[in-house]
Amino acid sequence: MRIIKLNAIDSTNSYLRKLCASNLVTDYTAVMAKKQTQGRGQMGTVWSSQTSKNLTFSVFKNVSAYHLQHPFYISIVVSLAVLKSLQFFSIPKLSIKWPNDILSENKKLCGILIENVLKQNKFSESFIGIGLNVNQTDFKNLPQASSLRLVTGNIFDLDEVAKQIIKNLKVYFDVLEGEHFSMLKTEYESYLFRKNKPSTFKDAEGTVFSGFIKNVSETGSLQVLVEDAVIKEFDFKTITLLY
Ligand code: BTN
Repeated sequence: MRIIKLNAIDSTNSYLRKLCASNLVTDYTAVMAKKQTQGRGQMGTVWSSQTSKNLTFSVFKNVSAYHLQHPFYISIVVSLAVLKSLQFFSIPKLSIKWPNDILSENKKLCGILIENVLKQNKFSESFIGIGLNVNQTDFKNLPQASSLRLVTGNIFDLDEVAKQIIKNLKVYFDVLEGEHFSMLKTEYESYLFRKNKPSTFKDAEGTVFSGFIKNVSETGSLQVLVEDAVIKEFDFKTITLLY
């Protein structure tokens, strides 16, 4: 397990991408930073994290040999690897908020930013960025955020948690390599946040509506049962689940 530790960097995802552009990097090489000055979240958001309190790290995986049905399977693998690692540390009430936030009860513990690189029309390299709130206890202006410390009362060793996640990434990428797609999808769906519960959503036009999360499609769209027993599929970026 190769872990590169940095005191400060703009973003561990950006660093790892640059490293791969100029060096031969092996699978599961990880870059961990105590502080990110330009931590990136999904959809162009900023990921902020108190220095040295949390895990902000990125892991490299070459996926060019995989027969991927859809890149969403990478998201499934990473979400399950993080969730299983948190189960190992006895974090309660874990779920996956589609597409890949990891929650305890209804609080976000972990955000995942996966950047996939295509080469000759084939998924080639995956840069897996993980922001896990570990020992931080105050989240000003972020009422939906929490940390492992807040939900358990315990202080965690950052290296130990990171190693557990990397170990589980290997386990789940091996399942993906074995092409056990439906097994992965079924396991992912079993942890879906608010599955089969009445929930409120906002679509891309800003319209608020209610429905029940059912499952995800083969391409990672969220399937929501809306009125009159109609199941609608929503792509990432076209729907927001309001808590
Ligand atoms: C989200 O919006 O929920 C995803 C957040 C991902 C943050 C992590 S921290 C390590 C890696 N480097 C980044 O710049 N972003 C990811």
